[in-house]
Amino acid sequence: MKVTPFTLERFFSQTEFDVRYNLATSAIQAWSLRELLSLANDPDLQFSLFATRLGYTEPQGNLELRQEISRLYPAPTDPDPDLVFVTIGAIEANYLLLSSLLEPGDRFIVQTPCYQQLSQVGIDLGAIALPWHYSEDKGFDIQEFEALLEQKPRLVMLNTPHNPTGFAFSPAEMKKIADLCLEREIYLLSDEVYRELGETLSPSMRDYSSQAVSIGSMSKSYGLAGLRVGWMVAPPEIIARCTLKRDYTTLCCPSIGQQLALTALRHRTKIWDRNRQLRLRNITLLEEALMEAPTLRWKKPEAGVVAWVDYTSETLSEQLGWELHNRGVLVAPGIFFGQEGHFRLGFGGNSGELKAGLAILVDYFKKG
Ligand SMILES: Cc1ncc(COP(=O)(O)O)c(C=O)c1O
Repeated sequence: MKVTPFTLERFFSQTEFDVRYNLATSAIQAWSLRELLSLANDPDLQFSLFATRLGYTEPQGNLELRQEISRLYPAPTDPDPDLVFVTIGAIEANYLLLSSLLEPGDRFIVQTPCYQQLSQVGIDLGAIALPWHYSEDKGFDIQEFEALLEQKPRLVMLNTPHNPTGFAFSPAEMKKIADLCLEREIYLLSDEVYRELGETLSPSMRDYSSQAVSIGSMSKSYGLAGLRVGWMVAPPEIIARCTLKRDYTTLCCPSIGQQLALTALRHRTKIWDRNRQLRLRNITLLEEALMEAPTLRWKKPEAGVVAWVDYTSETLSEQLGWELHNRGVLVAPGIFFGQEGHFRLGFGGNSGELKAGLAILVDYFKKG
């Protein structure tokens, strides 16, 4: 299979680790291991973690972890740990799903702009992407979706809450999409890695269809990307197809990552509270700073910690990215999500650093 470079990752590999103010990340600030363990407030926890066997685990994932993940899906079809498949981040879940369910020549609907993986894996397999375009006033319009269905796609790849726009479908829109896919027997994949990082827990496509696949992760909403734990919740036949592919690649998710993910999920409300407070504090900083730069247009994201900023200038977004990088600030150029004239601003990090980075960014745009 052809592999097109993942442009955002290639850019980050040259910029991310030597920049003073990283305003390009898409996750909430990471927890340290010490912080995570002290949050649990359980003197025996360290000893039980020390006892973790560092061998292979069940391919589908540790049962206790799958039980805990299933509790994030309270609708009538769940919780059932047998419908949970633990993967190495959401990125592995997305990869297994797209590469197992799409064939060359198939059509699939995907939002534009998007996290490149969601469109590229299918395209590299020889499938045809049907872009569902974002607009600032309508977001992702259901009428446009219905028109795309006329082209008889085999699969719909969604991301809600959405990276990079911060858009989130309403429950009514999710139900409509789920119903339309069910009627037509179209695979419905929903990347929901930001679900826990809004003011409340966002709905899941699993709430509306037992045939839909929800993809989740410990990375973005929890601030635990280093655990490399993600999952899919899916019908058994889809899990079986992904397992076939998994057997040739990663076999299972690291046992220690799964144990720590289990600890985090058992204390999830405390983690959500801290992360949501940080998010709200940082959104205020962002609003205050961007008011000083009238050429920048953006919409407050409904969930997640990324904002999609329209910078109204002819400068190509990659060039802009390098110019800001030279001033010590990193943003993610819009072209890496498929759209020029924009950049993605990640505001989930340390508030002091965000404030300092925003000051440099605003100064750059004020000078024009
Ligand atoms: C929409 C989306 N899905 C999946 C991923 C991959 O996340 P993970 O760290 O869980 O593999 C990302 C990472 O940026 C993302 O933005």
